[in-house]
Amino acid sequence: MSGLLDNLYMILVIMAVHTTSSLFHNYFKGRFAEYALFDLRERTAKHIGKLSMPCIDKHHSGELISSLTNDIMVVQNFLQNNLGNILVEPMLFIISLFYLCSISWNLTLFSVSIAPILMFLVIKMSKPIERLTGEQQEFLSEVNTTAQDSISGLDVVKSFNLENTMEEKFSYRVDRAVSRGLEIALTQAILNPIGTIMGMSPFILTFLYGGYLVINGAFSFGNLISFIQVLNYVVNPLTSFPRLLSTLRSAVSALSRIFEIWELELEREDGNVFPRREDVPVISFKDVSFSYNTSGEVVSGLNLEVKNGETIGIVGPSGSGKSTIVKLILGFYNPTKGDIYLYGERLMDWKLDSARSLISLVSQDTYLFPESIYNNIAFGKKNATRDEVINASRLAGIHEFIESLPQGYDTFVGERGVRLSGGERQRIAIARAFLKDTPILILDEPTSSLDADSEKRIQESLEKLMAGRTTIVIAHRLSTVMMSDRIIVMNQGKIIDVGTHSELLERDSLYRQLYMNQINESKQEDVRR
Ligand SMILES: Nc1ncnc2c1ncn2[C@@H]1O[C@H](COP(=O)(O)OP(=O)(O)O)[C@@H](O)[C@H]1O
Ligand SMILES: [Mg+2]
Repeated sequence: MSGLLDNLYMILVIMAVHTTSSLFHNYFKGRFAEYALFDLRERTAKHIGKLSMPCIDKHHSGELISSLTNDIMVVQNFLQNNLGNILVEPMLFIISLFYLCSISWNLTLFSVSIAPILMFLVIKMSKPIERLTGEQQEFLSEVNTTAQDSISGLDVVKSFNLENTMEEKFSYRVDRAVSRGLEIALTQAILNPIGTIMGMSPFILTFLYGGYLVINGAFSFGNLISFIQVLNYVVNPLTSFPRLLSTLRSAVSALSRIFEIWELELEREDGNVFPRREDVPVISFKDVSFSYNTSGEVVSGLNLEVKNGETIGIVGPSGSGKSTIVKLILGFYNPTKGDIYLYGERLMDWKLDSARSLISLVSQDTYLFPESIYNNIAFGKKNATRDEVINASRLAGIHEFIESLPQGYDTFVGERGVRLSGGERQRIAIARAFLKDTPILILDEPTSSLDADSEKRIQESLEKLMAGRTTIVIAHRLSTVMMSDRIIVMNQGKIIDVGTHSELLERDSLYRQLYMNQINESKQEDVRR
C-alpha cells in the first residue's frame, strides 16, 4: 500500500513539474517573448535608422531589412515555442530518471540502454533537415534582398526594361526556396515514422523485461504501469532535444546577426552648436580631398569660400564630384584630407543635426514618404502649424494644385496614393525648403529630371526660395546657374575654373564648350518641335 502511495506521490510531483513548465512556457510565449521581441525589433530598426553613410554603402539595404524581418522571426519562433522546453525538459528528465532508478535501477538501465544509440540516430537523422532548413533560410533572405532591390530600384528597373530580368531572378530564387521546402517535407515524411518507431523501442524493451519481472513476481504490475508512465519524460527529451538544440543554434546565429547590426558604425552624435557669425564665410573648404573607398579620390585639393548671401553655381560633367561636395557639406561623409568649415568652425566640431538644421537641400529626385501630402511638406519643420504649411505651399506654387485634389492636403502619396509628376514632386520639395526656412540652400540639379517647360515654371519658385539665402546651385543646364555670383567649373574632382558667366564665356574654357553644346542641343530640340 505504501508503495502505491509512493508511486502516486512521485507521479503527482512529476505532474506538478509538468504543469509548472507549461505555465512557464505560456508565460514565455505571451509576455516575455513579446516584450523581448518588441525591444529587439525597435532597437534594431532605430540603429539602422542612425547608421553612418559609409556603413550603409558597405551593407546592402536588403541585407539589413532581412535581418530586421527574417532573423527576428527566427528568434521569435525560438522564444515563443522552444525556450520553455529547453529549460524544462532537462529538469523533468533528471527528476524522472531518479524516480525510475528508485523503482528499479536495473529495469531503468535496461530500458534506457539503447538511449545512446537512439540519440545518435536522431542526431544523424536531423542533420539533413537542419542542412535543408539552413539553405532554405539563406534562399529566403536572398528572395527578400531581390524584392527589396526591385522595389527601391524601381525607376532603374523600369527605365532599363529590366522587369523580366528581375522577375526571372526573383522567381528563380523563390523556386529554390520552395524546392528546399518540398525537400524538407519529403525528408520529414520519411524520417518521422522511423523516428516514431525508434521512440517506441525503449517502451517495447520495458514491456518485455518488465513483464518478465512481473510474471516472476519480482515487480508489481502497478509499479510497471507508473514506470512506463514516467519513462515518457525520459525518452521524449532524448528524441526532441536534438531538434531543440538545432532551433537554439539557429536562434543564436540569427541573434548574432542582429547584434552585428548593433555593432555597426553610427553617425556621431557629439559636437557643439555654434553661432552664425557674419564676419566669416558661411561655408569654406580648405584643401579638401575625399574618396568613397580605396579606388581613388573623387574630390581632390578643393579650396572654396562661400560668403554670406552669395550664390555659387557649380557645373561640370556628370561624375565630376558635384553631388559629393553636397554630401560632404551635409556631413554624410568626412573628408579624407583637409577640413570643411561652417560659419568659421570645423564641421567636425559641429553637432551634425544642428549643422543640418541650417541647410535645406532640394535634389534631383525628391523622395516622398508614403504619407499625406501635408505630412510630406510638414517634415520640413518640427511642429509646423497648418498655416505655415499652407503658406509654404503657396510660395512653392503648389497650393492650388493640392487644393484641387479630392482629398486636398490629406491626399496620400505613393504606391496606393496619387502619382505626382516630377514637377509636382519638386514643388513639394521646394515647399518643404520654404517651411524649413534655413540660411543655407543647396540645389543639386533640382530641375534635371523635368522637361524644359516645367523647368521654366519651377525656376521662378526656386528664385523666390533663393532670395536672401546663401545658395549653392548645381545645375546640368547652364541657364540655371548663369545668374550666380560666381560659377565653379569642376572636372574629375578638381576645380578647374572660377568666374562669372561672362568671364568664363570669354575664355576658351570647358565652360564655353559646355555652353556651346547646350545651345546646339536646344536649337536641335526647337527644330524637332
Ligand atoms: N556612395 C558612393 N560610393 C562610391 N562611389 C560613389 C558614391 N557616390 C558617388 N560615387 C562616385 O563618385 C564620383 C562622383 O560622383 P558625384 O559626386 O555623384 O558626381 P556628380 O554629382 O558630379 O555627377 C562618381 O565617379 C561616382 O561614381
Ligand atoms: Mg550629382
